[in-house]
Amino acid sequence: MREAELEVESDPDGNLIGRSDERADVWVGSHLDSVPHGGKLDGALGVVAAIEAVEQVGRGAAVVFRAEETGCHGSRALVARRALPSAFLELHIEQGPRLAEAGAALGVVTSIVGVARGQLVVEGHAGHAGTTPMDARDDALVKAADLVLRIRDAARSIDGAVATVGQLEIEPGAANVIPSKVVVEIDARAPDVERLGRLVDVLDFDPSYRVEPVAMAELVRAAFREELEARGLPVVEVPSGAGHDAGILAAAGVASGMLFIRSLNGGVSHSPDELSSEEDIALAVDVLTAALERLTALRT
Ligand code: HGY
Ligand code: MN
Ligand code: MN
Repeated sequence: MREAELEVESDPDGNLIGRSDERADVWVGSHLDSVPHGGKLDGALGVVAAIEAVEQVGRGAAVVFRAEETGCHGSRALVARRALPSAFLELHIEQGPRLAEAGAALGVVTSIVGVARGQLVVEGHAGHAGTTPMDARDDALVKAADLVLRIRDAARSIDGAVATVGQLEIEPGAANVIPSKVVVEIDARAPDVERLGRLVDVLDFDPSYRVEPVAMAELVRAAFREELEARGLPVVEVPSGAGHDAGILAAAGVASGMLFIRSLNGGVSHSPDELSSEEDIALAVDVLTAALERLTALRT
């Protein structure tokens, strides 16, 4: 950011804001954190592209949000603490197969999925793995295994919903002890408020983190569409099954929008196999920059 001659602020919540001008009322950004053994594009690409766009346009601010993967902590703290921009743009990999299937390098996001995360605790009784007869056991992990399958089936029963158990905490956690307790970490998602509510009810858990599905702003979607049309590119509009900082800003009333880049390798993400082509990335930075130019011009 400093090389781009931006005025850099590190805020109390660990977010970075690089302003190119005093008003900076259009922000562009994403997150730098990643999942364990994640890919190199999720978040980081949007940050580098934001710095490039703000440097080229000479207006607005490039923003790096802290701790997006564990619950958008940086952007949630920021929207509760300070004056917000009039518009926010985020460039991000699609993390899915749809753009590649449509033969489109870029896509315009229509809405961002709602996410509910939380825990269910399964209790059992510890016992000796060798001396406890199989029919005398109260094995918490065997019961948790059944719960994981019920969580999967609940998501399958609601159109467009998904649910994942990516973390299990087993106590006491020794090979020769029958598990006495398992903490099951749930990540549940749905494309609209009604279905997210139904999914949470069916899963019967109390989310510790919940963000409702949110629409992207037509102002920003139109800017991206017009820049794609001006380049003779197809306009493919897709919902996001991933959560993003843009969803937090949109929920806080900021006119927010996202530009997706085609994900290759079948759309895999949250994996070292995450991949997009340099050609698509260059095109995306060009469209992002032009959209920033268009939106800042509206505010002069
Ligand atoms: O989990 C998500 O949707 C995002 O990658 N944080
Ligand atoms: Mn991300
Ligand atoms: Mn991610």
